[in-house]
Amino acid sequence: MSKKASTNRPIAVYDSGVGGLSVLRALLNELPNEDFIYLGDQAHVPYGERSLEALRELADGVTRFFIQQGAKIIVIACNTASAAALKYLRAKYPEQIFVGMEPAVKPAAEQTHSHKVGVLATPSTFHGELYASVVERFANGVEIFQSTCPGLVAQIEQGNLDGEETMRILHDALDPMLEADVDKIVLACTHFPFVIPQIEAIVAGRATVIDPAPAVARQTARVLAQKDMLSTATKPGRIHFYTSGNPKNLQAITHKLIGLKASIHQVAWDDGNLHHHLK
Ligand code: DGL
Repeated sequence: MSKKASTNRPIAVYDSGVGGLSVLRALLNELPNEDFIYLGDQAHVPYGERSLEALRELADGVTRFFIQQGAKIIVIACNTASAAALKYLRAKYPEQIFVGMEPAVKPAAEQTHSHKVGVLATPSTFHGELYASVVERFANGVEIFQSTCPGLVAQIEQGNLDGEETMRILHDALDPMLEADVDKIVLACTHFPFVIPQIEAIVAGRATVIDPAPAVARQTARVLAQKDMLSTATKPGRIHFYTSGNPKNLQAITHKLIGLKASIHQVAWDDGNLHHHLK
């Protein structure tokens, strides 16, 4: 393959649904001239309570689809899928480059003054060994408060960012943390950055919120630069969106969340593989 043909292949971004759009937004800021493929596996959203085995199979199917599309790097823009499958995928596809999400306990533990940190993530992220390992490595002397924010992913999938139910879920998660004097709140689910304004309204200056998306975008750029795989294009790239759910819904919410008017392709699962949906 010529240098151009290999470096100008797309960056693939994967989430259970719309959460990965918070990472795509950061990637577009960092790497505006790259081409992207975004896939939301909305036939299976939410991922948060699925078993590690089920998540691994889904992430494997998505990875095969991305490889067929020529992805030069795969960004698992989902903490839940990263926790369940990143290690497995790297072992199974050693030629393929992956970047994943890791709960940002390290910066939170470094920056906290009260030595109390809150983490918001899905149940599967909290159960995985990745979370246990970041807490073990980085939380020394810091007390961690966890919440799974039950129902919040579903609200964000529907675009309900500041409705009554969303605010109730956020208060249930954050009020006890604030009561306990938490001063850093780690968003360890990529859906949650879309409710940062609502979180900040509740927190009212008592804590700061850590969104890992910009750091993940910089990491992606670093990896591509190291491998000499940054695009040579000088104009904004193209983005292809795919969903295993309803394309109209994803189109409306992509516009609402990140201001992009995209056309969305539908893909369908068949026996563990993703295919273009034929009408
Ligand atoms: N956005 C995802 C995450 O980062 C998954 C949410 C879900 O599907 O439950 O964990």
